[in-house]
Amino acid sequence: MKNQFSQIVIPALFIGLSILTQCHEKSTGSETMHAMANIPPKEDFHGFESQVAWGEHLVIIGGCHDCHTPKKMTARGPVLDTARFLSGHPSDMPRIEIDRKDVESKGLAVAMDLTEWVGPWGVSFTANLTPDPTGIASWDEAQFIYCLRNGITKGIPGSRQILPPMPFEMIGQMTDSELKAVFAYLKSIKPVSNLVPMPLPPTSAVN
Ligand code: HEC
Repeated sequence: MKNQFSQIVIPALFIGLSILTQCHEKSTGSETMHAMANIPPKEDFHGFESQVAWGEHLVIIGGCHDCHTPKKMTARGPVLDTARFLSGHPSDMPRIEIDRKDVESKGLAVAMDLTEWVGPWGVSFTANLTPDPTGIASWDEAQFIYCLRNGITKGIPGSRQILPPMPFEMIGQMTDSELKAVFAYLKSIKPVSNLVPMPLPPTSAVN
């Protein structure tokens, strides 16, 4: 009697368990989780552990820090100011002292930290790309993509054209998923409060 019981109950338990396990796998499998959260599966991050990590990589190789991160002066020359990553031209930085009319007709001039640029277009200051209200806190992903694909500030149709030397024609050729990863990274970094000055028109337009 005891033997018969174990012969029937044990296989039944085994079948029951395997059905449960299959259901469990189906409902929590990574495919379903990714589809639910609208996140591409891990392999789409090109070997990086997350969308944010991939975005960080794209920002580094895309050269964004060169112009958008203020620098600290050291004995070895200017280095990135890590406390102010990607926060744009510092609002309290003195303007570069040059003869604008002369520079604008002959070529260009640039601040040592590459955040202020003077050329035939006037003067441009690099933007604050951190998730602060003075940066991109209010931006959504669609705005970011529109901005870089069309060269329109804030990604709002009708806003002004983006000025040189912002290389939006090149950066805007990133794929949608690359731009989304860059945006996800920018939204994840430390917000830095820094109200970047408005660009100035060329002296020829003013005089
Ligand atoms: C050669 C310098 C330079 C590089 C490199 C650069 N930028 Fe810029 N960027 C600028 C300048 C200058 C502006 C401001 C232009 C203006 O005011 O019209 C700007 C503006 C922007 C804006 C628009 C902000 C707004 O308020 O509309 C975005 C977004 C942006 N950059 C993203 C990036 C990203 C992302 C990268 C790297 C992949 C990058 N930039 C690399 C110089 C640069």
